[in-house]
Amino acid sequence: MNSNKVIAIDGYASTGKSTLAKMLSIHYNLTFIDSGALYRAVTHFALEGGFLKDNYFDQVALESALKNLTLKFESDKRFLFLNGENISNKIRLPRVSDHVSSIAALPIVRKFLLHQQRQMVNENGLVMDGRDIGTIVFPNADHKFFFTARPEVRARRRYEELMNQGHEITFDEVLSNLIHRDKIDTGRDIAPLLKANDALEIDTSKVTIDEVFDCLVEKIDSK
Ligand code: DC
Repeated sequence: MNSNKVIAIDGYASTGKSTLAKMLSIHYNLTFIDSGALYRAVTHFALEGGFLKDNYFDQVALESALKNLTLKFESDKRFLFLNGENISNKIRLPRVSDHVSSIAALPIVRKFLLHQQRQMVNENGLVMDGRDIGTIVFPNADHKFFFTARPEVRARRRYEELMNQGHEITFDEVLSNLIHRDKIDTGRDIAPLLKANDALEIDTSKVTIDEVFDCLVEKIDSK
């Protein structure tokens, strides 16, 4: 595969998109970008700045504050910095997960991040995972995949991830957050979670990460 290729992986939360995107980026020596982290960063920014609270949201103030927001992936794209602060762990907190789908549904936020995501393609090529990469961000991507899996399987994976990171949360809370996010992500007016016509759909419920990886590499190499 040429090194300047774009691979788009879209799909539901906790279907293994980022894990597989990272593995492909290493295999093909491409840059890896987790676009969900960018939406989480803006959500964190809105919460920290006081623009967003449980029953309060000041969209005008957020829009204006976005002008002073710089997002940068550093250290081999492993860490995300917001105006110089490493926020990689903070964006995984349940407080951010609870609000991120609502923030991601806002046209002002999508416009802001669309621009940032397109600027991240370099001569090295890219693997980006998200919800609208194959449909909106890179409709001409060289390879497109769309991941699905049963909600209970996805919630179990996310729950174990959060437990390992020491977060206090129940399985039911994780499951209801996922279902809630699915609903908002698929139902929003702008750039909804949707399989691109030319994307290959993969159900990761009953297969291992390595099996999915082998399948993706076979598809990519045979194209
Ligand atoms: O991949 P994730 O679960 O970390 O994404 C967090 C949220 O961000 C998800 O609920 C929907 C939103 N998102 C989006 O709308 N578009 C993207 N390209 C990536 C994520």
